[in-house]
Amino acid sequence: MSTGLFSELSLRSVRARNRLALSPMCQYSAGADGVATEWHRVHYGSRAVGGAGIVIQEATAVEPRGRITSHDLGLWNDEQAEALAPIADFVAEQGAVPAIQLAHAGRKASTTRPWEGSEPLQPEAGGWTVVGPSGQPYPYEGAAPPTERLDPNDIEAIVESFGAAAERAIEAGFQAVEIHAAHGYLLHEFLSPVTNQRTDAYGGDFEGRTRVAREVYDTVREAVGEEIPVFMRVSGTDWLPEPSWTIEDTVELGSILADRGLDFLDVSSGGIHPDQQIDYAGPNYQVALAEQVRAETDLPTVGAVGAITTPEQGEALIRNDRADVAIVGRKFLNDPYFGLRAAESLYEVEPDVPAQYRRGW
Ligand code: FNR
Repeated sequence: MSTGLFSELSLRSVRARNRLALSPMCQYSAGADGVATEWHRVHYGSRAVGGAGIVIQEATAVEPRGRITSHDLGLWNDEQAEALAPIADFVAEQGAVPAIQLAHAGRKASTTRPWEGSEPLQPEAGGWTVVGPSGQPYPYEGAAPPTERLDPNDIEAIVESFGAAAERAIEAGFQAVEIHAAHGYLLHEFLSPVTNQRTDAYGGDFEGRTRVAREVYDTVREAVGEEIPVFMRVSGTDWLPEPSWTIEDTVELGSILADRGLDFLDVSSGGIHPDQQIDYAGPNYQVALAEQVRAETDLPTVGAVGAITTPEQGEALIRNDRADVAIVGRKFLNDPYFGLRAAESLYEVEPDVPAQYRRGW
């Protein structure tokens, strides 16, 4: 049991009881002004009770314009932090590491919720003007909200807002911070030549396009100090013909961030443009990306995500040195106790069931 999915993982001062993480998943259930509700408390609490080693809370916006929908969580003020603190505490009490994903949705902000169609929302209908590295809107079928190109002062303010949110997150009790640089949201929009047409210091070559991600990492690191692990989620590839963001770019960025002290790269993919062509979207479909990053960089921890739905998949990923952490999304929506069931079915040992539930296991 020492090297598999249920082996411990050390990240700076933090210890995870196993290598199974809850993938960040928006619940679109915040109250007014991005404040967490009972839904979040029950949802994240259940996954911690259910055996996840790390609970990565959903994309939480660093400023109001950075929300996908007006029901997203935010962390740009103290009231939001106060509402998150009991969630982080409960998750930790149940033995999981409370982590939080900090995000800015860039030009993919201002839409309705998935169950309302994820439609772009105009300012007059309750939406807002969205921002990106360039002025082009996301190519929706319908009309996109007005899309503004960020100037260097705005960029600096957004970088600072990641730092301020990270500081609040740690004060609220989170033990790790994940920077969302994937899925076609703001930081990915700067990384990819598909969406970054700038010719200033924040665009052009690899160095320019990766500047914002590097600055956000450095700012978050400064905000959280040396004891707290910092994660970043990236899209390993755009799944588009070049010029686009490629796995080679991801490896290069991973190496640069490893040198600066990034603890964990969470390797997802896609989301930058609707023309993306994913060759295969079945079980483990993004694992090869994580595996390549793990083999070709010195990053301490690399996580794989995407259609991991069985305990055996997770166990094989870790045992075969393909990833250090198995990150599970939709399966954990389907079964909050996936972690307990995985431990039980893999090892036939008593899983780490809370005392209150032991008579049921
Ligand atoms: C997601 N995903 C996601 N990703 C992310 O980085 N931040 C987020 O807040 C969200 N929100 C979200 C909501 C919902 C309802 C789903 C289903 C997905 C993507 C998610 O974390 C994961 O990467 C993918 O779902 C692929 O993993 P699974 O679900 O196949 O295990």
